[in-house]
Amino acid sequence: MIDFSEVAVQVDGYDLEGRSTSTAILRGITATLAEHRVAVIGANGSGKSTLLKLVNGLMKVSSGRVLVDGRDPARQAREVRRHVGHVFTDPGAQLIMATPLEEVELSLRSSVPRREERRERALAILETHGLARLANRSVHALSGGERQLVSLASVLAVDPTIIIADEPTTLLDLSNRILLSHAFDELEQQLVVSTHDLELAARMDRVLLIDHGRLIDDGAPDEVIARYRAMMSERAEASGEAGLPARDEGTGTKGAAARVGAPGQPGTGGTGGQMSPREPDHAGAGPTPNAAAVLASDPGARDDR
Ligand SMILES: Nc1ncnc2c1ncn2[C@@H]1O[C@H](COP(=O)(O)OP(=O)(O)O)[C@@H](O)[C@H]1O
Ligand SMILES: [Mg+2]
Repeated sequence: MIDFSEVAVQVDGYDLEGRSTSTAILRGITATLAEHRVAVIGANGSGKSTLLKLVNGLMKVSSGRVLVDGRDPARQAREVRRHVGHVFTDPGAQLIMATPLEEVELSLRSSVPRREERRERALAILETHGLARLANRSVHALSGGERQLVSLASVLAVDPTIIIADEPTTLLDLSNRILLSHAFDELEQQLVVSTHDLELAARMDRVLLIDHGRLIDDGAPDEVIARYRAMMSERAEASGEAGLPARDEGTGTKGAAARVGAPGQPGTGGTGGQMSPREPDHAGAGPTPNAAAVLASDPGARDDR
């Protein structure tokens, strides 16, 4: 169970004139994620990755609170990371050993000290995930999808209770996307996945929509995804109208998007959904002392996973 309460993340920096600035990346996020499978969707730069990084302490809140199975990931990072596995967009960044077998063995290093037993366990894990035939192949010779499955297997080898996956299908072709989403279907662990892959999002139990750092929609996948599509069509249309010659009327989806967040909006699936109008100024949340979001480097990640 993941609990976000009034979470805000701000990063401090400097503008071109050297004045200090403070930018809100996430604001006012309150949500309790108890569902088995949750997707986080939203445009590039909306704050999805930041939200996920809060769960294993890779980012820290500036205000508010995150609890992961009752633990604070900022204060109990080691403990939390033992229970939270992280699958990244680019499996190449995650896989550091020469072969899938060695990769899974590495994950088992602290839990299975004896080498022969570790090898057997690693082989068994690969077999469970249908990857035994790849055990001794060079990771460089694997397809993107195979690499992502090996990443998932090596994360699962640590026996986490929660899997965080940040855009895990973005670099994959369709057949590999299907493979990975089937692997996700099989997971016993809670899964929280950020994605632009709306087919993947539609398979989850609940979808959160992040926009300019705010949670603007939350509920049943079909409903949230439909409103997200309408909102994005509306924005694309608006930017097209601003920057390009006028388009043929009647082909757009105007009106549909205008209903997003309007009074009388149907419910959001009974999971505590909320819709709030987008604020025009994303960066306008004034400086706060002690507000630096710490992007922790993670030297001990392998031991913790
Ligand atoms: N450590 C950081 N320092 C400054 N800005 C950051 C940092 N991390 C993320 N951002 C900014 O916060 C916004 C949200 O980023 P991110 O969470 O990566 O969005 P998404 O995953 O939805 O694309 C982006 O504008 C990004 O540039
Ligand atoms: Mg991201």
